[in-house]
Amino acid sequence: MIQNSDFVSVFNKNIEHKFIAPARINLIGEHIDYNGGMVLPCAISLYLRAYVSLRDDLVISLKSTSFNNVITKSYNDLYYDSNNKWANYPIGVIKTLFDKGYKINKGLNIYFDSDIPLGSGLSSSAAILDLTVFICNELFELNIDRKNMALIAQEVENNYCGLSSGIMDEAIISLGMKNKALLLDCKNFNYKYIDIKDGDYTYVVMKTNKPRKLTESKYNERVYECNKALKIIQTTYNVKTLCEIKTEDLANIEALLQDKILFKRVRHVVKENERVYEYTKALIKGEYIKLGTLLNASDESLRDDYEVTGKHLDLITNAARKAGAIGARMTGAGFGGCAIALIKREMFDEFSQKVSKEYFEQTKIKPEFYLVDIVDGTSRVE
Ligand code: GLA
Repeated sequence: MIQNSDFVSVFNKNIEHKFIAPARINLIGEHIDYNGGMVLPCAISLYLRAYVSLRDDLVISLKSTSFNNVITKSYNDLYYDSNNKWANYPIGVIKTLFDKGYKINKGLNIYFDSDIPLGSGLSSSAAILDLTVFICNELFELNIDRKNMALIAQEVENNYCGLSSGIMDEAIISLGMKNKALLLDCKNFNYKYIDIKDGDYTYVVMKTNKPRKLTESKYNERVYECNKALKIIQTTYNVKTLCEIKTEDLANIEALLQDKILFKRVRHVVKENERVYEYTKALIKGEYIKLGTLLNASDESLRDDYEVTGKHLDLITNAARKAGAIGARMTGAGFGGCAIALIKREMFDEFSQKVSKEYFEQTKIKPEFYLVDIVDGTSRVE
């Protein structure tokens, strides 16, 4: 938490406004948002907080509790700066809003403070992007709706920060609702909310604490592979995205692709999309065992066909199953980061101790566990 005195010591002004953005987990539908698929994320109670004051000059000044220096840029010089990677997210938002013709007629001091662990797959980057768009929308009365705020944030991540990410993270952080998952069709941005009942079972977030490496290049590589497969498939099938393909077409598609790796990627995408429908049905009916089975099937496919899990995620999800989770899987981009497990709420203490012990024995790394609430998206704090 930032106190007013901390803010004053950096910016020589009082805090005038406060805003928050949540982290997210994705229940199911992984690596298919950029393939026109269905996803089912929730916003969770780990927050990025922004403390803000307006300035009289056209300058953005940024500080974060996670980094030492203060970064100050004139609105005339909002170019990508590889020395201060994190600051590119808010700066890229201001630049993109300018490029789109929005009027931002005052400078900003922003002090960020976050409980969202950086680079852990809980979407700290979409949180800072969405939150900066939200701050500008509120303070400069830009009249952008939540859907378009998410689209602008995604545009910054794709074009300014260089990650070919889909819309899932920006959408859920903007549109999240308390105790609901967002069933989002990434092909057309149609969505509806699905209740997450506060029953005997709960999702636990398990953080591997394995620093993610090559995440961006590996992520972009998967996007590239999917696009390559799609182009070949389009020579025979009339589809715009991989998620329009049906399971029964997979045998023909395997013959058409003549490439084992590309086929495995496509098989993951097609089956994962079908699992999202099944998961949603089971969620509505409260069929928890079915949910667990689908989580495990998704994880297996991400491990074997999409190849984005890695040793640490595999160890933690296996340990979770052994410790009594009815299902577990990686969440987010993968390559390290976090996994989720569905467990009986009353088991939490025993479960986290068991998983922690087994994971530590094999990796010498201590994992962390979060029991989170499902919460609203970006908001102003009074
Ligand atoms: C990252 C991206 C999302 C999505 C997930 C994988 O979080 O930002 O768009 O592709 O990976 O499902």
